[in-house]
Amino acid sequence: MASLKRTAAWKALAAHHKKISTTHMRDLFAGDDNRFDRLSLGLGGLFLDYSKNLISDDTVALLIDLARQTDVEGWRQRMFDGEILNNTESRAALHVALRHPDDGGPMMAAGVDVMPDVRANRDKMRTVTEAIRSGDWKGATGEKINAIVHIGTGGSHLGPEMVTEALRPLGPPEANGGPEMHFVSNVDGVQIAGVLEGLSPETTLFIAASKTFTTEETITNARTAKDWLVAALGEEATLRHFIAISGNAKAVANFGIPDDNTFALWDWVGGRYSVCSAIGLPIALSLGMDTFEELLRGAHDMDCHFRDSPLEKNMPVILGLIGIWNIDFLDAQALAILPYDEGLRGLPNYLRQLEMESNGKALDRDGNPVDAGTATVVFGDPGTRGQHAFYQALHQGRQRIACDFIAPMESRHKGGSHHDRLLANFFAQTEALMAGRTSDEAQAAMVLRGVPETERKKQLPHRVFEGNRPTNSILLERLDAFSLGQLIALYEHKAFVQAAIWGLNPFDQWGVEWGKELATQILETLETGATAPKTCASTTGLIDRYKSWKAKNR
Ligand code: F6P
Repeated sequence: MASLKRTAAWKALAAHHKKISTTHMRDLFAGDDNRFDRLSLGLGGLFLDYSKNLISDDTVALLIDLARQTDVEGWRQRMFDGEILNNTESRAALHVALRHPDDGGPMMAAGVDVMPDVRANRDKMRTVTEAIRSGDWKGATGEKINAIVHIGTGGSHLGPEMVTEALRPLGPPEANGGPEMHFVSNVDGVQIAGVLEGLSPETTLFIAASKTFTTEETITNARTAKDWLVAALGEEATLRHFIAISGNAKAVANFGIPDDNTFALWDWVGGRYSVCSAIGLPIALSLGMDTFEELLRGAHDMDCHFRDSPLEKNMPVILGLIGIWNIDFLDAQALAILPYDEGLRGLPNYLRQLEMESNGKALDRDGNPVDAGTATVVFGDPGTRGQHAFYQALHQGRQRIACDFIAPMESRHKGGSHHDRLLANFFAQTEALMAGRTSDEAQAAMVLRGVPETERKKQLPHRVFEGNRPTNSILLERLDAFSLGQLIALYEHKAFVQAAIWGLNPFDQWGVEWGKELATQILETLETGATAPKTCASTTGLIDRYKSWKAKNR
């Protein structure tokens, strides 16, 4: 791909940046009564306010030009047409088919209509979910299943856990008619041991979720779970106490899980785009299949908005362009995802994988170095907790960190003043980050508080806030399966828009392979004493230190 910076749109943005970079957002709001209305978008109950960014109407127009000149519309069409967009693995990227309605007609992935398989998998999810939740599915000793352990990592874990947590109704777990859910995603044995401690084999069912069914953490944990189960109930128990979600039917069969208990995962579904596939089974088991299908409807709603809306009125396009403006022109070093909803505490980590594994790359889709972008560090914590952890850096740090504030207007906690307090903080933080506080304002505030003159002099510089820190505000009417589905799809398509502009393939992840290969070689050294791979003196020294400690402490 030709250098992005040599495009006319990029050059125009760079020239524009020189002019606007010395502007303060305060001045952009002053005297522009309908800035908020112009720089916001709604889709049903989801509302995006992007006016607290260092942008003018000209900025937006130039960003839209950039989207046009990098053929975002063409890439969007190719994705929905199921073309091979994951070019390094020769795969389509058709996660939108996972939430395509049963009566919505064909969806082609590399020329094949995938909807018959998608529908069959969804029907099977419903059958299995209803059997387990109703108690019809019995364990090896005839007991009902009352605990599920989902074993998976990355995209095979983050989505199911985040959604299950976000939508779990308040009140005792049994009130929801579903089994208790546990997630195991780390090869650190402490995690699975802790989970198994409190469970009984007779009433526990395991889900081994792995697209490749070769991910070491998942397979190791699944083997430990199987050993625990078989030790109590015998080999046959696997048939009643294990479900698999995978694209590798052979490896699943070798593990001993029957076809009937296996859900397919297709190569046109990327791991971090798979929550709407059978990977979402824990959501259905925990909350009911109707809730899972409501999530799909919300995601499909956003898919249609992304597919059909003009760029200027297109939420994922606008969110993606604002992100590129912040990263490439305002030098934002990170993106903070700040959900003001305790149920969404898993959202920052979910979006961290989505954005950083999709776009944390230095080569374009053809293997040429890119000279702009790419993904920054994505992190976050629910408000208001984050305010007591890292907001100092957001307000007064030397690095500019962009923030996405997200909150539902309706709380699932009724009564009291909690929700008003939560949202008051949401509004206050976005205002303070934008407006900052001048020296005069800080001085006046201290006088008002009766701070003595000597103290005022000392404290003043520390009480000044430069502001001009960019934030997006996303307000949901309420957090439910539909709005969460919209939100997930919004960020999936945002990442896709940014990849299209930067020229990346957002659907592969070669960067995770080398570490895995080295770990396998080093593991062999640790387990069998085989000759260690050639490593630097530090790694060799660390390995030797561990081996000698192990030898002394067998
Ligand atoms: O981190 C690499 C990765 O391949 C992710 O993309 C994926 O979601 C995760 O590992 C798990 O992969 P699998 O579902 O094949 O176990």
